[in-house]
Amino acid sequence: MYVCLCNGITNNKVAEVVAQGASSTKQIAEACGAGADCGRCRHTLRAILHSATRAPVR
Ligand code: FES
Repeated sequence: MYVCLCNGITNNKVAEVVAQGASSTKQIAEACGAGADCGRCRHTLRAILHSATRAPVR
């Protein structure tokens, strides 16, 4: 499913960069571009981060 429409990034791609070490929305944007434009998807990015890491989201 697409989570970032601006850049055409799927939840699978976001999960992949989180698994590779991205631990903030900024790092996700740097790794794959999700959240780098309008920012509307950042809430979803935080939810993916939280479910993947169970850590406090920055
Ligand atoms: S939908 Fe992700 S930056 Fe716009």
